[in-house]
Amino acid sequence: MKVFPHWKLKDRHRQVLALIKKNMGRLILAGACSLMISLATTAMGYLIKPVIDEIFVDKNATGLVMLPLAILIVFAVKGFGQYGQQYFMSYVGEDIIRQLRNQLYDRIQDLPIAFFQKERTGVLMSRITNDVNMLKNMVSTAVSGVLRDTSTIIGLTTVILYLNWRMAILAFIVLPIAFFPIFKLGRRVRKISKKCQEAIAEITAFLHETLAGTKIVKAFGMEEHEKKRFFNKTQDLFKMEVKSVRIRAITSPLMEIFAGIGIAFVIWFGGWEVLQGETTPGEFLSFLSCVILLYDPVKKLSHLNNTLQQGLAATDRIFDVIETKSDIRDPENPRTVPNGTHAIHLKNVHFNYGDKPVLKGINLDLKGGSVVALVGMSGGGKSTIANLIPRFFDVTSGSICLDGYDIREFKVDDLRKQIAIVTQDPILFNETVRDNILYGNPEASEEAVRSAARAAYAHDFIERFPKGYETIIGELGGRLSGGEKQRLCIARALLKDAPILILDEATSALDSEAEGVVQKALENLMRGRTTLVIAHRLSTIAKADLIAVVVDGHIVEIGTHAELMGNMGEYTKLYEMQYGPQN
Ligand SMILES: Nc1ncnc2c1ncn2[C@@H]1O[C@H](COP(=O)(O)OP(=O)(O)O)[C@@H](O)[C@H]1O
Ligand SMILES: [Mg+2]
Repeated sequence: MKVFPHWKLKDRHRQVLALIKKNMGRLILAGACSLMISLATTAMGYLIKPVIDEIFVDKNATGLVMLPLAILIVFAVKGFGQYGQQYFMSYVGEDIIRQLRNQLYDRIQDLPIAFFQKERTGVLMSRITNDVNMLKNMVSTAVSGVLRDTSTIIGLTTVILYLNWRMAILAFIVLPIAFFPIFKLGRRVRKISKKCQEAIAEITAFLHETLAGTKIVKAFGMEEHEKKRFFNKTQDLFKMEVKSVRIRAITSPLMEIFAGIGIAFVIWFGGWEVLQGETTPGEFLSFLSCVILLYDPVKKLSHLNNTLQQGLAATDRIFDVIETKSDIRDPENPRTVPNGTHAIHLKNVHFNYGDKPVLKGINLDLKGGSVVALVGMSGGGKSTIANLIPRFFDVTSGSICLDGYDIREFKVDDLRKQIAIVTQDPILFNETVRDNILYGNPEASEEAVRSAARAAYAHDFIERFPKGYETIIGELGGRLSGGEKQRLCIARALLKDAPILILDEATSALDSEAEGVVQKALENLMRGRTTLVIAHRLSTIAKADLIAVVVDGHIVEIGTHAELMGNMGEYTKLYEMQYGPQN
């Protein structure tokens, strides 16, 4: 009989085994405890025979002292074994959880942006929380459970054969019949459990999106709609869980029925042998106890198959993430990034999202220390251009050069160290204000943090916070305005002090009053850096050294503000859309 039909040792299984092996010492102790349990269980079954035959049948007085003592010892050994097994196995299991979680997070942090656009945050979170737990269950119940249950079965079987081989043969014909349907069920449990996990991940992802976007949900009056969507999802999960329980729950009763049949047979046959005088009552009761004691490990072994199937499914999901290859890789022999300001050249850059061409031959020169602006209707490809410079994505064809070298010749880390980015959504982490600014350069001094905050026009409002720089962002609740958040982000970028600066609609979310201050902060930030600025409001980029109008993946016009206004082309049209006809 093929006990584990889906068991193929893949590289990912070897990695799990390697994690287990790291805990070899504790594993051996857990194994020893398992053996203590099975030894004690076997002894319990066997001891029934002398108890009945010597004390109750032969009325032997020494037996009356020795046997209860022996039984005490057996129970003590079993209890000790159970404690040890559980402790050591849980230790190993928790250690594996920790290592896998760290591996997952490590991998997820290193994956390129493209991965996060495919996988939803909630699904990834479920990998780190739920799936890892299932794998632990598999390891901690399976590894020592197998040893404990198989050795108990072997021990009890030996006793059974030793006591009465004729009855043993009868029992062994009836009992294995119970195994077959159980292992058939295992396959279906695995399939359904996978679906349940997916449904849970789906719910987590849904929660993450709708709770984070609760303002929008309310603004659009979509509460009822979201409720309905959520109820549908819980309904799906409910159906799946019920189905899974139905299959899992049938396992035990099935086994009990078969066990009942087996025991009935044994009583019938054994009772007949006792009546014939071929077996003593002690032997018979001991035999019966062993058969009953066999039931538990056999049942556990059958559950173990389920746990194993679930664990294997979880292993697959975990390693699908861990084994994801990153397309954005370091070169074999990375070049060192030159010092000073950098010039950037985009040469005939094409870029596709999947099959969809987004950039169609972009040529653009950013001279060292100059400010180049991208303007154009949304969807034209401006942010895409900005995302290619720090290699969030790689060009599909063409190249981007930094000081004449293709950016793919540098280490990704070294390249990104050269770049500070401020985007439209000011992302801050739930730490102190100081830590958020230090994110730009963890080694910076207190004085540097303060002067960055001053240059970003943030120092004054930070000082007004209850704990100043020590205030935790979350404590402020919604009290930070968009402009204030943005200025903290600018302070962070200032502290990074990188020679290249990318501003992607950094002021677009602000009202014009807030924009004024943020604009001044940005001017401090741009000083002496090669800057690519994407702006919606053209007033913010009029002073740029070069302005490129991006339409549908092409640069259709390029020049200074004065030149472009003279052209009466796309730029003039955009300008007039915002500020009315200029005559
Ligand atoms: N992750 C993505 N997957 C597929 N298409 C995308 C993705 N991001 C942007 N696009 C598409 O690429 C085009 C350019 O987008 P983007 O560079 O953001 O434009 P802009 O910043 O000029 O508004 C748009 O048509 C947009 O729909
Ligand atoms: Mg954009």
